[in-house]
Amino acid sequence: VKVLFVCLGNICRSPAAEAVFREYCRRAGHAAAIEVDSAGIIGYHEGAAPDQRMQQAASGRGYRLESVARQVRPGDINEFDLIIAMDYDNLNALREIADSAHGHIRLLGSYIEGVGSTIPAVPDPYYGGDDGFETVLDMLESACPLLLDSCLEFVNSRS
Ligand code: 4NP
Repeated sequence: VKVLFVCLGNICRSPAAEAVFREYCRRAGHAAAIEVDSAGIIGYHEGAAPDQRMQQAASGRGYRLESVARQVRPGDINEFDLIIAMDYDNLNALREIADSAHGHIRLLGSYIEGVGSTIPAVPDPYYGGDDGFETVLDMLESACPLLLDSCLEFVNSRS
């Protein structure tokens, strides 16, 4: 199963999502079944390492961010089984790229249990203070269990 996390720049939220979910899958013993990648709506940071502030916050929780920024490609829409947008702008941009079939494009917040009927966006931490990065990590970690369930449903539906 292939999962793509998408944010605006691919240097803060989605690189962290990639690292957090990959580590969660590894600890759960499902590393081999689930492939994780990330990309950005804009190509402005193409080739760049993740933002230092995000790297530092992630490292404080034992995650290493190893992604290299890249822009979303139209081919990603069909290549990935699940595409996880960080906020509503990302979601709408992805739906435009997807053109028609976009049932597999979802908000990260939809995997957080107990959020009620309004799905929360993962707030862009780029222009804010350091707690923004911790908030991002909190949300990403809380989405992991349901996201893994969703991935395993894919795996089972194929076998
Ligand atoms: P991200 O954060 O979407 O979480 O990677 C941002 C990174 C860069 C910019 C905006 C958000 N930017 O405008 O360059």
